[in-house]
Formats: sequence, structure tokens, C-alpha cells
Amino acid sequence: MPKASSVEKSQSEIYHPSEEIKKSAHIKDFEKLYKHSIENREEFWADEAKKLSWYKKWNTVLDDSKKPFYKWFTGGKINIIDNAIDRHLKTAHRNKLAFIWEGEPGDVRTFSYHALDREVSKFANVLKSMGVRKGEIVTIYMPQVPELVFAMLACAKIGAAHSVVYGGFSVEALAGRIQDAQSRVLVTADGGWRRGKITDLKSIANEAMGRSATIEVCITVKRTDHDVYMENDRDFWYHELMGLPIASAECETEKTDAEDMLFILYTSGTTGQPKGLLHTHGGYSVYTSTTHKYVFDIKDEDRWWCAADPGWITGHSYIVYGPLINGATIMMYEGAPNHPYPNRWWQMIEKYGITILYTSPTAIRGLMRFGDQWPQRHNLSSLRLLGSVGEPINPEAWRWYHKIIGKEKCPIMDTWWQTETGGFMITPVPVMPLKPGSATKPFFGNEVAVVDEIGKEVKAGEEGKLVIKNPWPGMARTIHGDPDRYIDVYWKEYEKQGWYKAGDSARIDKDGYVWVIGRIDDVIKVSGYRLGTAEVESALVSHADVSEAATIALPHELKGNAIYAYVILRAGLNGDAQLEDALKKHVAHEIGPIARPESVTFVDSLPKTRSGKIMRRVLKARALGVDEGDLSTLEE
Ligand code: WT7
Repeated sequence: MPKASSVEKSQSEIYHPSEEIKKSAHIKDFEKLYKHSIENREEFWADEAKKLSWYKKWNTVLDDSKKPFYKWFTGGKINIIDNAIDRHLKTAHRNKLAFIWEGEPGDVRTFSYHALDREVSKFANVLKSMGVRKGEIVTIYMPQVPELVFAMLACAKIGAAHSVVYGGFSVEALAGRIQDAQSRVLVTADGGWRRGKITDLKSIANEAMGRSATIEVCITVKRTDHDVYMENDRDFWYHELMGLPIASAECETEKTDAEDMLFILYTSGTTGQPKGLLHTHGGYSVYTSTTHKYVFDIKDEDRWWCAADPGWITGHSYIVYGPLINGATIMMYEGAPNHPYPNRWWQMIEKYGITILYTSPTAIRGLMRFGDQWPQRHNLSSLRLLGSVGEPINPEAWRWYHKIIGKEKCPIMDTWWQTETGGFMITPVPVMPLKPGSATKPFFGNEVAVVDEIGKEVKAGEEGKLVIKNPWPGMARTIHGDPDRYIDVYWKEYEKQGWYKAGDSARIDKDGYVWVIGRIDDVIKVSGYRLGTAEVESALVSHADVSEAATIALPHELKGNAIYAYVILRAGLNGDAQLEDALKKHVAHEIGPIARPESVTFVDSLPKTRSGKIMRRVLKARALGVDEGDLSTLEE
């Protein structure tokens, strides 16, 4: 029998939910509620907003008078902490586990909602004593330890904003983000544990503070207890500050406006300078809690594990804010999934009775590689739902996840969204029939389309650009400090229609299922992490031997994509294996290990247009050995 390609096959492969899932799900009739949410968008969101606690009700649900700078719930007063913590303290939830944390070495810490409140209030008072004020942006650069979450929540509580920089980033990435946010206060840790080794965050932070002049106060959590350099008058230990009388457990939550800034989170775009996407208290609270509740069908008895890092939007929305607003019990793990053995995750699912696991295709492929015997040694019967995010999931990985981890009884919620969207945009709910590799359909209130250059919808099954046709409460409000760029990147191309351009290509099949293909700009998804070709290129040219550089993404079995670099050296220099290695290390030192190129090729010239733009698609076509396409703009 001829073998159909795996993706073709998966388009006709359908998985239906069990009767049990249908019976217990919050959403029983998706189509009906979807129709209602589209016809009465503002009413739908107002109804969801009413389920939260507000100091003062909003006047207007959606203010679109300054498009595309939409505002939600204007006139309303709300603080996300009042919803994520304070209101739970008034009910039996006070005694519920908010947070289970396991360190890589095996140490365990747990916090009830009551205990979480104490930690957050104490640190909020510490921040206040350092002069942190409403509207100020505090940078947080930490490993996956509970204090990372406390620091985020403490900022929100006093109306300050946080900018979390992923702990896997390095010197230049951190320095650039501190500078852009003009942060005066940095919260970090001496290090974290990863594969039995210490990641030396404090040394990276020290070097970054040397490159950006704004930090006056640096608070360091002691996690690994190795020697670190602490500067007089600038550096303080977290645990020492938390022991002082100023760190009282009484702290009033600031009554912020719905549209007040909650955080900025940097993400890569097409230029070297990362964009600080800005999210707000009101709309983001409503959007993250609603999506989390309906898509993952959250119940009181659940134990929710989003195995992302809080340093990315996935962690912000679905480790921290959405789940805490929903009063869930969250799980967080510090280290590598295969340390000390590839059963580490499965062991924790069994040990803590995790009911929902949400992770990335890269993690699934990585764990699948070790073989079925590792998960099979554990009782995973507590699981009832699974999730995937970050990149398209290949059908092979989907089937393994479904069969070996979910025992064919757990629907997989493949959620498509972005740092910009704040929460799930295209996603199933548990009662929906699933097709492996498709994120299925738009969430309530959302309409998406796949269109060509001029905005005409392409035919079913054809590839085009993914757009979102409507505003939603969780949308980023702007790019911090650069509103023009916000318009240029997302809204300019389909200005006439008023659509948001996602930057992805996709297909919609005849059943209305969306199949996301990948990025169509100069953004690369490596192991689900988002990087810009321009960032990696500028790290390469910051090396003394490099005169020019171009980077492209090529498919990689485990990582989804890997970075390939092409480098022109300064006159008179010759590339060799040693220099290739030095350049890879340099990129890892500047941006972080995730940006380390797979290979560096030394070349004499790069394909460019007559106006001097590097034609990355030509490099890519050459590397893949496929047709180079239209070369008419190529310089002689
Ligand atoms: C890009 C956004 C949103 C959380 C993590 C990523 C890709 C994300 C999926 C999915 C196919 C996906 C897209 C998107 N992406 N989820 N389920 N299927 N692709 O956030 O770092 O802002 O990246 O990730 O290309 O544009 P992000």
C-alpha cells in the first residue's frame, strides 16, 4: 500500500472525546456558545468579566476610538492580585494548595493560598522600601524557583510592572532589556540547578549591569549558595531583606485601573531590538482566566502543570496568572526533564497526581526519543487532559503523547497563540473532535482567516497569511516606548480591514480546522523558543573577527528548527573549526544557549538585493537544495 505523507494522513484522522469527557466538560456545546460570542462579543466578555472581582465596575467594555490601540473595561478598577490571591483568602480556598514546587535536586516546597499571600505581601513591602512605585518596571531574571513567582506577583500587587527576562538568556539579551525598560531594580538569584550543574545567573546579571547603567538596586535570591560578587550599596540578599521589619505581611493591594500596565514581556521580531509587549490588569485577567478555565476545563480537584518557564508568556499566562485567578493548584519544576533520568516528569506526575499536563512539541519529541519504557514505569492514570504549545506539533509526536502518556483517554489541547495575544487564540475545547497537528478552531469571540497579500481569503486547504479579525481582551496594548512599531508590525498590512497580522502562515481545511505552518517573517522558532535572525546576526557581528553575518532556520528533528549561520570574516582572516566553535560560544554568551547556531559556515559573500538587504530565502533554498525562486532582485 502506498504510504500517505504523515501530515496528509493526519488531516483525515479524527479523535473523538469520550462520553466521560463530554459529561464533565464546562463547555458542552461549543458551536452554540461560539456563535453567541461572535454575535455578541462585548456581552460575552462582559459576562466573563463579571465573574472576577472589581473594585469598581467598568463603564465601557470595548473602547475602539483609537484603533488599533484598543482598550477594554475602561473606567473599571481591578488588580489581578485581588483576583489571583486576595479573593481566595475569603473562602475555604485559603487553605488550598496554590503551589507545589520541586527543585531539580529533589527539594520540595508547597504553599497554600494563605502562604502565597504572605510571601507576596512581604516581598511587596520590600520592593516599596526600595522605593518601587506604581508604573515603574522591575526586571526579574531568575531560574524557576518560587521567588520568581513571588516577585512577579509582588510587583503587580503594588501597581508596579514586571519585565521577566528568561533565565536562559545571557548578558546582552539581559542588558538590552534592562536598558529598554529603564529598570532601576533587578531581582535575580545566585543561580539555579540544571542537569546537576549551577547556572550562574548572578555573574551574568553583574556583567549585564555593567553594560546598562540604570540599575540601582539588585536583590538576589540564594538558591545554589556558591560564591558570587555582591556590590556594596547595590546588592542585597532576598532572604535578609525578607527577615527585616520592613517585610511585613500586611500589604494593601493597589487599586489599579483596568488599563494600567501589568507587565511588559520582550519577544523577538524582525529587527535586532526585541519588542516589549505591554499587557494590562483588566483585559489580561479576564482573558487568561477564561481561556484557562474553558480550554483546560479547570475543576477544583485539578492539579495543573504547565511545564513552561515563567520567563515566557506561556508561564506568565498559564503557570501564574490564569490558574491562580481560577484558584487552581499549580505545579512548577526547576530543572531538566531528563535529570537524573528520563522518567523525571513521569515520576512527578505520579507523585503529585497531576491531572493536566501542558507542554511543548519539542519537550514531547525529546522525551519520546528515550523510549516508552520510561513513562510505562509510572502510573499516569491521574491525567485527564493534555496540552501542547509553541510550534506545530508533528502527528508522530501527537500520537505518542496521546497513546503513551494519555493512554488514549486524554484529549490534547493544541493551543495556538503568541506573546502578543496574551492567551489562547486558536484552540480546541475538550469536547471537540481533534485532528493531530491542527490547533482546531478560534476561541470564543475570535474570528480568524487565512488571506493573501491583498487580504482576500484563500480557498480551503490553501496556504496564506493568518490574520485575526477582531480585538480581544488579552491583546497586547502596544510595544513599550514604541507605539509606531506596534502599528507597523501588526496592523499596517491589513489597515483597511482592521485585521491583526500574526506573522504565521496557515491553512484552513474544509471543516474549518486551522493548520498553522510556521513563521513567515525573520522570526525563528528553536525548540519552541522565539528568536530573531537579526538578534543572532548582531551577536555574531559583535565578535571582533566577524564583518558580516546572516542566519536562517532549517528543519531539525528534535528542535523543530535550528539556526544556521553564514559569516564573512574581516579581511585577512580564515575560518577554521576553532573559530566556528568560538563564534558559537560567543552567541551563547551574548544571547543564551538557545541561540547557539547549529553550524557556522564561512563565506566570501552573501546573496543581497541591490538595495543591500540579505536574501535569506536564497541561502535557505541553497541549503535545502531546492529552487532559489525569483532572483531578479539579486545584486550582480
Ligand atoms: C509563535 C508565537 C504562545 C505561547 C508560546 C509561544 C508559534 C505557538 C503554536 C501552535 C503552531 C504555534 C507560532 C506563533 N506557535 N503555538 N499551537 N501551533 N505554532 O509564544 O514565543 O510569542 O511565539 O509560536 O509561530 O506565531 P511566542
